[in-house]
Amino acid sequence: MNSKIAVLYGPKGGNTEKIAKLIAKKIGHDKCDLIAVRDADETLLAPYNKLIIGGSTIGTHNWSHSNTSVDWDQFMPKFKKMNFAGKKVAIFGLGDHLAYTNHFVDEMFSLYQVLKNNGATIVGQWPTDGYEFNESAAIVNGKFVGLPIDEDHEDDLSEGRIDAWLNTLSAQM
Ligand SMILES: Cc1cc2nc3c(=O)[nH]c(=O)nc-3n(C[C@H](O)[C@H](O)[C@H](O)COP(=O)(O)O)c2cc1C
Repeated sequence: MNSKIAVLYGPKGGNTEKIAKLIAKKIGHDKCDLIAVRDADETLLAPYNKLIIGGSTIGTHNWSHSNTSVDWDQFMPKFKKMNFAGKKVAIFGLGDHLAYTNHFVDEMFSLYQVLKNNGATIVGQWPTDGYEFNESAAIVNGKFVGLPIDEDHEDDLSEGRIDAWLNTLSAQM
């Protein structure tokens, strides 16, 4: 078993990677490993009991839609076969609350569904307070299933949101 946290993210090269790197930096590189879904497989991830998993919402449908990021599209079939029993998993998601106000960070829900179906204990659910949007598929029992980040219009809020979220996560993981 690996006692570190796996910070798993995709795609590479955009806002999700930037935020994943910031999260890893704040946790501390001695306490986590940053892994791109592009480089991940079940063997690599199996030893981790704690994971933070993130992606962006690209397209207004779901991960199987052709508009989703290529990295996650390619990884999703493997991800769906992974067993998350006994693992604690937190989710973060990049989105745009203005241009996609009816589908804000929808894809966090797709991640949540797979993780839940595959036995994960989901942690890091986050209140909707402070976010403006019309609709989001990523709300369960009145809370976001993970942390939404909007680098397009609220990048000045990202660091504070991450700090507050990691603060509550440290007690949950
Ligand atoms: C074609 C396209 C579709 C998008 N669809 C959504 C959407 O449905 N919901 C949302 O919240 N954000 C949506 N976004 C915004 C992205 O999620 C946001 O810009 C994010 O920061 C991109 O992260 P990335 O660079 O890691 O992919 C979309 C962006 C693009 C370019």
